[in-house]
Amino acid sequence: MKILVLGGAGYIGSHTVSELIDAGEQVVIVDNLETGHIEAVHEKAKFYKGDIRDREFVDSVFENEKIDGVIHFAANSLVGESMTNPLKYYDNNLNGTKVLLQSMVAHGVDKIVFSSTAATYGEPESIPILETDKTEPTNAYGETKLSMEKMMKWTGVAHGLKYVALRYFNACGAHVNGHIGEAHNPETHLIPLILQVPNGQREAISIFGDDYDTKDGTCVRDYIHVTDLAQAHILAMKYLAAGNESNVFNLGNGVGFTVKEVIETARKVTGHPIPAVVSPRRSGDPAKLIASSEKAKSVLGWKPQHDDLEEIIATAWNWHKNHPNGFAK
Ligand code: UFG
Repeated sequence: MKILVLGGAGYIGSHTVSELIDAGEQVVIVDNLETGHIEAVHEKAKFYKGDIRDREFVDSVFENEKIDGVIHFAANSLVGESMTNPLKYYDNNLNGTKVLLQSMVAHGVDKIVFSSTAATYGEPESIPILETDKTEPTNAYGETKLSMEKMMKWTGVAHGLKYVALRYFNACGAHVNGHIGEAHNPETHLIPLILQVPNGQREAISIFGDDYDTKDGTCVRDYIHVTDLAQAHILAMKYLAAGNESNVFNLGNGVGFTVKEVIETARKVTGHPIPAVVSPRRSGDPAKLIASSEKAKSVLGWKPQHDDLEEIIATAWNWHKNHPNGFAK
């Protein structure tokens, strides 16, 4: 198949491109390089620099390439920023997806797999979270992702497009080959921030609140390796190619770790004491987010391969210690 990967120079996008190419697929990447990195573009993929909000540009890609399916990562994804600049999220995430879908419909491309998020649920009603649980996002980022899901649903009703929304929990880790990994600016995610301490870039890690109703008072999250997420996209595209209906899947390991447990595991992996300082809660953080991914396992046949936190953090450390400034020299 020839797959168009939007946002293929970003963190999860670049790992998915790598798995697609290893699986023998042809890959075309589109990325505006606003948060993606040219160095993360796979040498065997065809690359177009451009913005999915630009209809002429998107049309030209579909006209030049005979695309069988689209995997869509091209979106802004910072929860905090989405609260101070929500319209940026509506513009890029929703307007961008609207233009993309218009162009797909016009060119008869009818399969799309895309990044959704645990943030579509908001404060969970029960743990583990099921795909059928209520979706009431507590931030603008989650709201735009939920609206993207709905935009695809109604486009499907009208035009026959089929989609799979993958609701990721906490993406982390790096490719085992050490060539690609997480490189955000600014960085807001726990594991890369922790690893800045043994890398000499930060004195201590802040623990955002230790008075939650959890076993040690710190927030619990479900950490899932980026390569396992990448594999799920390939399975989802195969699922659509086999003629199945549109669907939504959670992607997580189904196991929760507290912030303190993650820090402790990073100490073990790096051999560094990693001082931690308790700070105030970060607003909007739910106490506990753990996925039920049974549906992805039974319907897609997904099997996460990296379910050990120590191993996940070791892949992240292998990347960060060798690339302390991400892709920058
Ligand atoms: N945390 C700290 N200190 C830090 C950074 C994070 O204690 O310096 C804590 C957070 O409070 C949270 C946990 O570590 O409890 C994980 O935080 P991240 O920022 O790494 O990830 P989130 O759980 O906030 O975010 C993830 C995804 C988002 C998604 C969100 C859904 O990265 O895309 O889950 O709530 F929107």
